Amino acid sequence: MKEGLIKLPGLKGENTKMGKVTVIDHPLIQHKLTLIRNKDTGPKEFRELVDEVATLMAYEVTRDLPLEEVEVETPIQKARFKVISGKKLGVVPILRAGLGMLDGVLKLIPAAKVGHIGLYRDPDTLKPVEYYCKLPSDVNERDLIVVDPMLATGGSAAAAISFIKERNPRSIKFMCLIAAPEGVERLQEEHPDVSIFTAAVDEKLNDHAYIVPGLGDAGDRLYGTK
Ligand code: PRP
Ligand code: URA
Repeated sequence: MKEGLIKLPGLKGENTKMGKVTVIDHPLIQHKLTLIRNKDTGPKEFRELVDEVATLMAYEVTRDLPLEEVEVETPIQKARFKVISGKKLGVVPILRAGLGMLDGVLKLIPAAKVGHIGLYRDPDTLKPVEYYCKLPSDVNERDLIVVDPMLATGGSAAAAISFIKERNPRSIKFMCLIAAPEGVERLQEEHPDVSIFTAAVDEKLNDHAYIVPGLGDAGDRLYGTK
């Protein structure tokens, strides 16, 4: 990680935007993320919180959607107002933990199509293994938001995005809850065109490539497996 590339968000500040990384520093997101991190938060509450944070983050991730003017007749008179111009969006959760963020994003952009990409990190090699990929047939006309709660080594996200790019989407953004500096660096190196949105950049990875302090294993905590 290059020095100064990432700055941890302050207790109450603006989104931190460094290059292609945006740390979304909204107090509601930070508060809920702290509850998510707590090891005593059980699967039901964990799922609900991840869903809520995904919705709140989607608000920021979609901030640059283009608008166009249409004419509307209010009870008083006709006038021109803004609506989102027909931009085709897609949301692609990285299975399995990314599924925990899907509905939260769709609450804000319900017309988005959904693709799925299945990857798991081999516990021995720590390398991502792809087992499923199904994207919208018109993916080449869509701007995609790839979601996964954790960006650790960056191997899964970088591989998922490489597979997705083979289908030529119009653009890709990546959204996660917690990133490690190593993952941010890798994703930026391998996919410099992809903007990263995260609620936090943590300190480091441990010897098992878990994010420190992180939240533990996102998939296991979402689905109560272990
Ligand atoms: C987790 C997480 C990411 C990946 C991050 O998934 O949801 O996909 O690890 O690690 P990386 O950045 O080092 O690749 P996991 O492989 O545990 O699979 P799961 O979602 O099925 O639990
Ligand atoms: N995957 C997780 O679920 N958590 C981590 O900390 C790293 C990878």
